[in-house]
Amino acid sequence: MAEIVGGIGTSHVPSIGAAIDGGKTDEPYWQPLFAGYGAAREWLAETKPDVAIIAFNDHASAFFLDLVPTFAIGTAEVFPPADEGFGPRPVPPVHGHPDLAWHLVESLVADEFDITIAQEMPVDHGLTVPLSIMCDQPEEWPMKVIPLAVNVIQYPQPTGRRCYRLGQAIRDAVDTFPGDERVVIFGTGGMSHQLQGERAGLINSEFDRAFIEELEHDPEALTELKRATYMREAGSEGVELIMWLIMRGALDDEVDRVHWHYHVPASNTAAGLVVFENA
Ligand code: DHB
Ligand code: FE
Repeated sequence: MAEIVGGIGTSHVPSIGAAIDGGKTDEPYWQPLFAGYGAAREWLAETKPDVAIIAFNDHASAFFLDLVPTFAIGTAEVFPPADEGFGPRPVPPVHGHPDLAWHLVESLVADEFDITIAQEMPVDHGLTVPLSIMCDQPEEWPMKVIPLAVNVIQYPQPTGRRCYRLGQAIRDAVDTFPGDERVVIFGTGGMSHQLQGERAGLINSEFDRAFIEELEHDPEALTELKRATYMREAGSEGVELIMWLIMRGALDDEVDRVHWHYHVPASNTAAGLVVFENA
């Protein structure tokens, strides 16, 4: 049977992707951020997963306010990088795993998660920047990818608890897939940031660091956090952190934190990265 071999939580700030694409990662502004990514990249290169399930949010690229799926799974063979206004990022297309994606859809719907099926979906920075953070600039991404788009843009977003339970159901689905795929799961977005309004630029490092601690040791406690609490404490876009709970729900109760990195700022955002393995 397929198995989940690790989980990655990471920010997906567009300017991090632009720094990689533009060859700026050694510049003084960016160097301290990228210095913290090396060990995680090595971990992925050694772990060699066959598939990554990436929980991310679309930022009005594939979906707009006329169509807002709460959870959508990409079942396509290929997902092109989205044009977010400056042309698509110069990154390889993302190759899917339709068999496992359809198995996820079937298993999750049987488990009473009403998943939207996306047979076409351009993928924006929410998905491609985490790939670049973990894989740098390969000719082709080193693994298949199943995109899991989560609505964190338009009220009402799913609760953190719902996201955690979805992760648990994804774990059950992977465990029953008749294959030998080794799977990693990503939760992306965050950490604290607010892109709009009077509090634009808000960063709450204390909250972010406590979030990573609790995610490791007591994720059930984090599932009690209300969406309004994320927004108050971590900024209006800090609510993206609920997607890290999907990743954590798909792992064992006990995990080892094999790497982590936290850096402020990446544009006006706190950038975090954590890698977990089952203990
Ligand atoms: C920005 C956009 C994001 O989607 C995000 O998660 C963080 C930062 C930005 O535009 O700076
Ligand atoms: Fe975002």
